[in-house]
Amino acid sequence: MCGIVAALAKRNVVPVLLEGLNKLEYRGYDSAGLAYLTEDNSLARLRSVGRVAELAAQAAGKGAAQGIAHTRWATHGVPSERNAHPHISAGLAVVHNGIIENYAEIKQELTGLGYVFTSDTDTEVIAHLVHHLLQSTPDLFEAVRKATARFIGAYAIAVIHEGEQRIVVARHGAPLLLGIGTDGNYAASDASALLQVTRKMVYLEDGDIAEIRQDQVRIVRPDGSAVTRPVHESSLSADAVELGNFRHYMQKEIFEQPQALANTLEMVGGSQTIQPQIFGADASALFARAKSVLILACGTSFHSGLVARYWIEQLVGIPCSVEVASEYRYRMSVHDPEQLVVAISQSGETADTLAAVRYAKERGQHMTLAICNVAESAIVRECALRFLTRAGPEIGVASTKAFTTQLAGLALLTLALAKQQGKLSVQDEQNHLNALRHLPVAVQKVLALEPEIEAWAQHFANKHHALFLGRGHHYPIAMEGALKLKEISYIHAEAYAAGELKHGPLALVDRDMPVISVAPNDMLLEKLKSNLQEVKARGGQLYVFADGDSEVPESEGVHIIRLPEHYGLLSPVLHVVPLQLLSYHVALVKGTDVDKPRNLAKSVTVE
Ligand code: F6R
Repeated sequence: MCGIVAALAKRNVVPVLLEGLNKLEYRGYDSAGLAYLTEDNSLARLRSVGRVAELAAQAAGKGAAQGIAHTRWATHGVPSERNAHPHISAGLAVVHNGIIENYAEIKQELTGLGYVFTSDTDTEVIAHLVHHLLQSTPDLFEAVRKATARFIGAYAIAVIHEGEQRIVVARHGAPLLLGIGTDGNYAASDASALLQVTRKMVYLEDGDIAEIRQDQVRIVRPDGSAVTRPVHESSLSADAVELGNFRHYMQKEIFEQPQALANTLEMVGGSQTIQPQIFGADASALFARAKSVLILACGTSFHSGLVARYWIEQLVGIPCSVEVASEYRYRMSVHDPEQLVVAISQSGETADTLAAVRYAKERGQHMTLAICNVAESAIVRECALRFLTRAGPEIGVASTKAFTTQLAGLALLTLALAKQQGKLSVQDEQNHLNALRHLPVAVQKVLALEPEIEAWAQHFANKHHALFLGRGHHYPIAMEGALKLKEISYIHAEAYAAGELKHGPLALVDRDMPVISVAPNDMLLEKLKSNLQEVKARGGQLYVFADGDSEVPESEGVHIIRLPEHYGLLSPVLHVVPLQLLSYHVALVKGTDVDKPRNLAKSVTVE
């Protein structure tokens, strides 16, 4: 989704703004722009459709001590130069992430006052409204504060004004942080954009309005009262977002999974028991009280929740439902204060998941837990309990290491819940913890299958459709495999619980429809084999990921790749890895933009 960088420093900030935009490219965007104050303090603006590199070419040789920059992911108005940010009103420029929901009403009012709109965006109302307010409130900071009181929706904004040595920023519902440097001060929608200049970050809260000067920052609340926010030392390493020897971030992130899992599971490294406190100080009490679990998430994170449902119901013996956040937030569901609400999110900023948690809380559900990859994110701050997956920054739009580390966190949650509810024997606790500790090594072995998977990828290059099959807790893995394939290779893919095949989708099967099946050696294997026979009998081409001991024979039209031996409850963590690799290699063969697939954004901070 859109990205913001702002800088005011004792140096030329144009390269800083451009480098910041480069670091935010992973969020997904279609155009980019920047505005800066020239030596004589007048406003200049550069914009381009396409890559940040094109903007950088326009900006070559430009210098400024103060500026704002933006990558846009179109919501209101097509991707075009006239819709790219910054938007200007006389000598004032604005960049914006999010959506101003009541922009039409404000636009009408401003048009009546004589303002002329030159774009189709909601953002342009911000520029004109602040400009209009400056006529009666000749102070930029106050004018922005008054303007934000008018906005309904989610936003993070940064504003500069001709002749002023300051940048004013504000946030409500979209991420924004300040970077405190030695030669100046900065702001961005994501810490990775500012690591080039500082590690000292101040995370703004919803409603905060901040003024950035070269030697200081100040923050106020919407009523104008001053507030201080803690300065965090970012532990992100600049290397974590470098590509290194890999061709794509997605490939790098797939191969980082053993380390990401080891980091996530570090707190149970040497221990024979699971401590509920790893989820927060109040976790023991809340887990003992929970009569059921409700998991809220979107996309890939939703799929990890679906796996957890099987685990929780099997080991804890309490009902667990999993709901797409965008549906739940508008549904009159039956609320239950004794239910543990678990929000799963890589970014922690997904608008629908955040709104769903808030909705649950409004309805009296206060036992909330965030499973998230970003420590200071909105979803983490919204929840009573938290578990941080330690996957490191995930740059590829297609989520991989975030998914497997979410599964690791959810496995720990299952054990902690089972323990607090008296459902876990000491022996079982030790066995499960041992299996978790060996998970990074087991994933490493699966990664070694890459050459075989790469060879399969050629078979998919000319296909337009694919079916994914799984059963039990591998059905969500089939769903995740289908999502990965469609989002980066643009091949239409559907996942089915294998038992459903004969109830409709079998009609689609022919030589042109590859069927990919996840076939672990579990209690459903024999049933699954019958389902695969149904495909084979119709001439379908089967691509089966079987466990070493699954005894699914290779034959005409049945291709097999064998994983190491069956890994019990944690088997879904292993079985998703070859599906990630398959979609990656199919995308390579097809030549798509693997890390930035068309139409998609990394962090979906709008509804
Ligand atoms: C798919 C993918 C998305 C995200 C979804 C939720 O590869 O990455 O489906 O999983 O947008 O994002 P988070 O987890 O940040 O809430």
